[in-house]
Amino acid sequence: MADYETITVEQRGRVTLITLNRPKALNALNSQILIDLLDAMAAFDADKGQGCAVITGSEKAFAAGADIKEMQAQGFAEMYGSDFFAGWEQFTRTRKPVIAAVAGYALGGGCELAMMCDFILAADTAKFGQPEVKLAVTPGMGGSQRLTRAVGKAKAMEMCLTGRMMDAEEAERAGLVSRIIPAADLIEEAVKTATTIAEMAPLAVMANKEMVNAAFETMLHQGVQFERRLFHGLFGTEDQGEGMAAFVDKRPGNWKGR
Ligand code: CAA
Repeated sequence: MADYETITVEQRGRVTLITLNRPKALNALNSQILIDLLDAMAAFDADKGQGCAVITGSEKAFAAGADIKEMQAQGFAEMYGSDFFAGWEQFTRTRKPVIAAVAGYALGGGCELAMMCDFILAADTAKFGQPEVKLAVTPGMGGSQRLTRAVGKAKAMEMCLTGRMMDAEEAERAGLVSRIIPAADLIEEAVKTATTIAEMAPLAVMANKEMVNAAFETMLHQGVQFERRLFHGLFGTEDQGEGMAAFVDKRPGNWKGR
């Protein structure tokens, strides 16, 4: 397992647990954390023994945003010229599922990173926000788009315009997070959920992820057709035969990943 400067990575069975580790900066997302995360995600995606990842932070902060101190002195030419933040798009191309396990602050880029994951499990201490307006800027890692799609215009607009934080209860009601978990149990529950996913037939997992994500990119009829084609495609896998035979035989499936 590679050693990183800003994250730790461990394998728990078929689950890769990635912990953001810049405690003095409340896990602010700097360029190095992006480099480290992309490397770890590529290794996870390529590892046939791994089926699902969990990304988490500390008890106090999942991540308190992009690193303000790194951005402070930049001008338009540097930001536009380097297409600052564009590297995060690579993160969203991870083909296997990624769960965000959020405790404490998920602000700005932290909220955006959580939303780039496939779903968010929130500790009861979680707080979500897009406070960039207070710095005289806007979200830059997809927050205005993903938050609006997740919680609708009214809440997204209010949060972006005021910088107000949402607590875990409000985030669950609004559909931003899938479940709230007592903070002390967050990692254990996230790894358990990830293990459930990692034990499913891998191609079916990937296809499910791909088609749910397609709902955000397509018209309904295109999305429904895309779903049907992927569904048909799975009938070309050995695992489909095994999965249906296992159901009929009343036994667990034994997946080949092909
Ligand atoms: N960037 C850099 N450093 C940060 C940081 C950030 N986003 N957030 C916190 N830190 C640093 C603080 O500067 C402080 O460092 P020092 O000890 O060296 O002063 C350390 O982390 C601890 O933070 P606080 O003392 O502020 O802790 P607190 O408990 O009093 O407050 C907080 C916690 C409310 C989260 C507060 O730190 C805060 O408001 N942080 C900034 C949140 C923010 O504005 N995020 C958006 C960033 S811009 C962005 O993300 C753009 C984008 O779309 C990608």
